[in-house]
Formats: sequence, structure tokens, C-alpha cells
Amino acid sequence: MDDRQRYDRATAHLEPPFAVLDLAALRANAADMTRRARGKPIRVASKSIRSRPVLQRILAMDGYTGTMAYTLPEALWLASTGLRDILVAYPTADRTAMTRLTTDPRAAREITLMVDRTDHLDLIETATAGLRDRHEIRLCLDVDAGYTALGGRLRAGALRSPVRDADQAADLAADIAKRPGLRLTGVMAYEAQIAGVGDDPPGHPLTARAIRWMQARSRRELILRRGRIVQAVRQFADLEFVNGGGTGSLATTTREKAVTELTAGSGFYHPRLFDFYRGFTGRPAALFALPVVRRPAPGVATVLGGGYTASGTPGPDRLPQPYLPCGLRYDPREGAGEVQTPLIGQPAEDLRLGDRVWFRHAKAGELCERFATLHLIDGDEIVDEVPTYRGEGRTFL
Ligand SMILES: Cc1ncc(COP(=O)(O)O)c(C=O)c1O
Repeated sequence: MDDRQRYDRATAHLEPPFAVLDLAALRANAADMTRRARGKPIRVASKSIRSRPVLQRILAMDGYTGTMAYTLPEALWLASTGLRDILVAYPTADRTAMTRLTTDPRAAREITLMVDRTDHLDLIETATAGLRDRHEIRLCLDVDAGYTALGGRLRAGALRSPVRDADQAADLAADIAKRPGLRLTGVMAYEAQIAGVGDDPPGHPLTARAIRWMQARSRRELILRRGRIVQAVRQFADLEFVNGGGTGSLATTTREKAVTELTAGSGFYHPRLFDFYRGFTGRPAALFALPVVRRPAPGVATVLGGGYTASGTPGPDRLPQPYLPCGLRYDPREGAGEVQTPLIGQPAEDLRLGDRVWFRHAKAGELCERFATLHLIDGDEIVDEVPTYRGEGRTFL
């Protein structure tokens, strides 16, 4: 039985649109990531999962420890449900949530906030000043791991932190050390230009060469810089962790001595944008099914919905991939529509009303903002239905 038959059979009783998670694919992806990490623990990026029961399943697997959350309200919610060791990977300006954090001993113990400048420290101190029973707030220092060349004219990587060298990191660490109520417990440096950029884009050999050139240089530069930064910060703080990497860089980031733990998120669901790496091949695990509702012309099958565009620079690579049956594509004049999406290509001819077309999202967790539940498939049957964050009424972004 091929995957399409398997998915169709498992979900025959459901009315699309709905989303599924193939557990065998998820397990295979998780196992391959721990193999690439070669024994270093992996923190799970919740933004790429966005379902609490799925997050819990992953955290129960060997090699995975701790969660990387994306907002403080999310982290507070996860902590209240029993999750431990939650690193909020993006700075917060949410004063109400900061108050909740510092007055809740359990949350204060389990959650670490991200900072990258003194303004963040001032904001946290102001937001929590004067509260009774204030608990110490754990902090992590975000370091810019981007690559720059030609005197800064060439830059690759996410624009995150203004802290780039050992002196800047040491200054901020020293500032934190002076402030009672704040404790620096970690350093994070995320190399988006390696972890999140496929080095094998199809049909673009020159771009592929440029990406590989940049990534090789960036790797070499980071080994030295990250090492120096961590050494400098350790003079002012007893670091519990140094976090780095993402799905696309596990195999190389793990080699750096200064890094004590890695992060991965997208690799579990293996969305479309992660197809273009030479170092690994994941299995698509998260899919959504849309029903064929029209045949407007010969060779065209129109499905309901479909315009679940991913974040990032707009472009065709942000659209979902019509995945099964294989060989379908968008009409270039329409793309993926708000309420209906015409599909062309040879298999469209054979699709009848009510048939399903299976799609993959371009990114991982954003799919869960569209569906209240994920149907968990094992083999050719559904074994469970679990809520997404949205399904639990939690939309943090
Ligand atoms: C700080 C940080 N670390 C790691 C990752 C890697 O996540 P993924 O494995 O989903 O690419 C991300 C994703 O954006 C991130 O923001």
C-alpha cells in the first residue's frame, strides 16, 4: 500500500479539511535527528510543534530534553501543565506575564527569559519592581550568530541580537551579575543561515554554490567566536547551558565544544522547506487533506481552501506543496486561494468530487494555526486525535 492509499484508508470516515500526523514518520525523523546530534541533548522548539500532546510525546523520546518556547504567556501555560525547563527564545515586553513569572515559584524555576541588551534588563526590573514574594528570574543571553563579510556589506542569518563579540557579551553578563533578582543561566547563539537554509535548492546550481560557500565560512567563524564568547561570559555567570543550532545544523553544531545543547523543531514534521538539504532526508509527517469540490475545466481539479501561506519573504516557496497524488501543481495565475484552489497537472484529470488532495505546509508549526486537532496515524489507522494550541484556545502569535 502506498502512502496515499494508507492515508486515504486511515481517514476514510473523516470529512476534509483536516490535518494528520504520521507517527511512524515522526519517530523516524526524531531518531534521525538524535543520530545527527551524536549524544548531545536536543531542546524541542515548540513553535514547530504547536500541539501540547505531540510536544509531550517528543519529550518522552530519548535524546530530547527541555522546550524552546516562543512567547512568555506560552511558557507560563506550558509550565502550569507540568512541562519543565522552558527557554523562551525571543525577548518579551509583556509586563503582565513578567509579573506572573516572578510571583509563581514553579514558573520562575522552570522558565528562562531571553535578553540581548540592558534595556531588556531595565524592562524586566521595572515590570517586577515592588512585588512581594519576588522570585529570581532566569536569563539567557542571545548572541548574534549571523555571518558577515566584506566589512558588513554581506550578511546572512536572522537579525536578532546586537551582541556579537566576547567583550559585548561579557559587558552584558557583568551588568546582569550586578542586579539582584536576575540570574544569567544560559547563552544562545542560533545560526539561522546554516540551520534554516537548505544547501541544495533545486534548479539553482549557482545559488547552491554560494550558500555552501557562505555556510562553510560561517561554520569556521562561529566555532572560534562562540567559544570566545562563552569563555568570556563564564567569568561572570555559572552557565547551565549553551544552546545552538537547529534542524539543519545538528550534525555540525554538535561538534562545537562550547555548545552544550542543540535545538530542533522543524525536523519532526519535516515540512517542504526542509527538503533541500544534502545532509539529511526527512519523512513528511504533518499533512493536511482538502476535498476536491469542482472540475471547472478539463485537466483542472479545484479543492476547498488551501491558502495557508507560510511566514517569511513572500514567494512560491512559502506555499503549501500539493503532495499526493504526486504531480499536481498550482495554476500560476491563482496560486493557493483563500477559499478554493484550482490544481493542474496530469493527476487532476483523474480526481473526482470528494477525493482528497494531501498537502504539506512550507513550514512546520504554522499548520497548527489552521486546525483545531491533529489526527495521529500509525500504519493505516488513526490511533488518536489530539488538540493543537489553537484547539486548546491558545493562539500566542
Ligand atoms: C532560536 C532558535 N533556535 C533554533 C531554531 C530551529 O528551529 P527549527 O529546527 O524548527 O529550524 C529556531 C527557529 O527559528 C530558533 O529561533
